[in-house]
Amino acid sequence: MTRRPYIVGNWKMHGTRAMLSEARAIDRAAQRHMKVEVAIAPPYTLIHAIHREAEQIAVGAQDCHEVDGGAHTGDVSAAMIADAGAKFVILGHSERRQNHNESDALVRAKAESALAAGLRIIMCCGETAQLRESGDAVAFVKQQLAASLPPAETMPADIAERLTVAYEPIWAIGTGNVATTDDIGEMHAAIRALLIELFGEEQGAEVRIIYGGSVKPDNAAAIFAVPDVGGALVGGASLTADSFMGIALAAS
Ligand code: G3H
Repeated sequence: MTRRPYIVGNWKMHGTRAMLSEARAIDRAAQRHMKVEVAIAPPYTLIHAIHREAEQIAVGAQDCHEVDGGAHTGDVSAAMIADAGAKFVILGHSERRQNHNESDALVRAKAESALAAGLRIIMCCGETAQLRESGDAVAFVKQQLAASLPPAETMPADIAERLTVAYEPIWAIGTGNVATTDDIGEMHAAIRALLIELFGEEQGAEVRIIYGGSVKPDNAAAIFAVPDVGGALVGGASLTADSFMGIALAAS
């Protein structure tokens, strides 16, 4: 089975209730692009409101804590975001790894907690500019991803449904410097090989691998034409329905 392209908007720390109109517009447009699976990850504060109104798109979170509850001031658990209506959570984003010192082990613990709460996960990985220049990007990303994913024997049986991998070269995020299609192709092929090694031929071949890093309506079609690119994780261009759905259109 070939999965539908998955186009996910990561609103990062953008969005007050005024942005709900944009979410409505994305939801309406997504109903006309059924060949594509469209989702948005707003800040925690908007998850429930979008969940209540959305008819087509899924809503998710940008992070969760690794335990179910307790004395963790300011944190939000996977069970809580699921209760608010989230269907998925983005984990291991480079902004979390860098700004909050999230280690591979912590990201793995969050993934285990999210899966146990019934959520789908989008596991992010990606190299710095320095690693890209030194030629070590592929080896680094494979190691980072393997260390961040829960062990295969603890993963749910429907791995291909529950797991998406997002390859996001750090130097391409928010910079306008999109990776070349050759580099994206090489990395996605390496990630595919790793997923097959970890989860077996059948499941490993079905897990979607999406690309993130300065995806825009005008470069999306070229990126989606690369083998093993199953969609996009979109930051800046997901903040307006016009640009976000321009990207979705390129995938349909
Ligand atoms: O999660 C999304 C990525 O960090 C990409 O962000 O599209 O603004 O480059 P960007």
